[in-house]
Amino acid sequence: MSMKEDNQSSNMDFILLGVSGHQEQEDFFFILFLLIYPITLIGNLVIILAIHSDIRLHNPMYFFLANLSFVDIFFSSVTLPKMLANHILGTKVISFGGCLTQMYFMIALGNTDSYILAAMAYDRAVAISRPLHYTTIMNPWCCALLVVRSWVVGNANALPQTLLTAKLSFCGHQEVANFYCDMAFLLKLSCTDIYFNLKMMYVGVGVFSMPLLCIIISYVRVFSTVLRVPSTKGVLKAFSTCGSHLTVVSLYYGTVMGMYFRPLTSYSLKDALITVMYMAVTPMLNPFIYSLRNRDMKAALGKLFHRGISS
Ligand SMILES: *[C@@H]1O[C@H](CO)[C@@H](O)[C@H](O)[C@H]1NC(C)=O
Repeated sequence: MSMKEDNQSSNMDFILLGVSGHQEQEDFFFILFLLIYPITLIGNLVIILAIHSDIRLHNPMYFFLANLSFVDIFFSSVTLPKMLANHILGTKVISFGGCLTQMYFMIALGNTDSYILAAMAYDRAVAISRPLHYTTIMNPWCCALLVVRSWVVGNANALPQTLLTAKLSFCGHQEVANFYCDMAFLLKLSCTDIYFNLKMMYVGVGVFSMPLLCIIISYVRVFSTVLRVPSTKGVLKAFSTCGSHLTVVSLYYGTVMGMYFRPLTSYSLKDALITVMYMAVTPMLNPFIYSLRNRDMKAALGKLFHRGISS
């Protein structure tokens, strides 16, 4: 490993210490990710295929869901294959360029995910509280706009964060205490003044978390509408579908905000375990949580499998 005391970090290598830093536990996480990654890919791919092949699912809710699956496929591909490949090759090295690439796409896709989740909640709120105006409000143009906005915000958030990190110097501190190049863990290693980077990181987490407000408002509208109609069945149905959405959503925002809204000095290796939650587990759970409790989706999946078997 080269020890460089200048700001030429461009041809420097970083060491990814892994989730735990202990060899036996790394073997466990290798097996875990080896299971999680294909499940994530196949689960999300099946959702996209099922939605696009069934004309009854050609409406905003399912288009957003297909978009969420599309993003999740790439999101999990930013970090998991590199971790798996390094473990197989018996190396922990990642180049500085590779590091910044991971960082960029992790922030961009994570934010896109977050804004699509908000679009999905908004869509449900409109469908339940203003059913008569639903098709006018959620017209194809509005849906496309919400999707495009998610991608624009994601990339607009990732670009400055990555450029600012690219300018840092590391003075030989190259051991990232995680299984991928996470921004907070990189900032902690820098020997330059990171005051501005930190400020920008908090702004970035703020931008990421804003959709949570929209999600909460949407669900409040859903619940208040449902509770006004005295039907136990309707109430139970709303609570069971929205309940599972809320579980994933709070898990997702809870871990990200709990992770980044605090001083860098409090970071330790065990925080890598928290990042496993949103880097690996949430993208895997999304297709199951949003689809499998849904009757139309189950019918579409059944049709897809039948067609697959008969062809
Ligand atoms: C994403 O949403 C748009 C607009 O609703 C839709 O046209 C497109 O097919 C969706 N993308 C995927 C991968 O399903």
